[in-house]
Amino acid sequence: MKVMVYKTAEEIAEAVGRIIIKRVADEPSCAIGFATGASPVPTYEYIVSEFNKGNISFKDMKTFNLDEYCDLPVDDKNSYHTFMHENLFDKIDVQAENINFLDGNAEDYDAESARYAEAIKAAGGIKVQILGIGTNGHIGFNEPADEFTDEAFKVTLTQSTIDSNQKYFGEQAMPRYAMTMGIGSIMRSEEIVLIATGEAKAKAIAAAVNGEVTPQCPASILQNHPNVTFFVDEAAASLLK
Ligand code: PGA
Repeated sequence: MKVMVYKTAEEIAEAVGRIIIKRVADEPSCAIGFATGASPVPTYEYIVSEFNKGNISFKDMKTFNLDEYCDLPVDDKNSYHTFMHENLFDKIDVQAENINFLDGNAEDYDAESARYAEAIKAAGGIKVQILGIGTNGHIGFNEPADEFTDEAFKVTLTQSTIDSNQKYFGEQAMPRYAMTMGIGSIMRSEEIVLIATGEAKAKAIAAAVNGEVTPQCPASILQNHPNVTFFVDEAAASLLK
């Protein structure tokens, strides 16, 4: 696992954005795994600015998002579907039929998990997966647990995640469940880039990079992946050995 430390979020955005753009330039119909949350937003801004300059087209790119809330309409302002459209998809030329999300309102979560796994496989596998990290070490919504998961599943969100994300919901009750890609689905990506900025992430980053590989810190499993880079600022890197 490589750790790259940068001074600003903008520098991280450019470094990660270039990886995505190069991959899509080399393999226009490849599948990219996208993440929501604050961490990748500057990267999405960089990608949009390169698209606006005419430097890249995403018309054949396939997308797979990591997770989606359950019990929330897909067009709710806080759904991850809405987040991705507002921050990236509506601003580039990705085609609607190439955009893939887990259905947080699926009637049968096992069938939905199997459908997503099959769609990823049919797309040739995820070439680059973008990740954030929770203050509790979660990736996607794989919360600290007794075992590493494999394919997508319905998860009960932990209090730590609810505390971190309630701010987006304001007065609205935040969902208590989500559908997330599992650790196995994430680990099968060819390349993984994880973005973390700010002191609040320092403990999780240190545990993921220097700690033992344990499902109690889901991101620690990335130590076992052959092509992972953490893109962090100095604050997020501050507890690294
Ligand atoms: P954040 O969330 O990018 O909003 O900090 C990351 C995560 O919880 O995975």
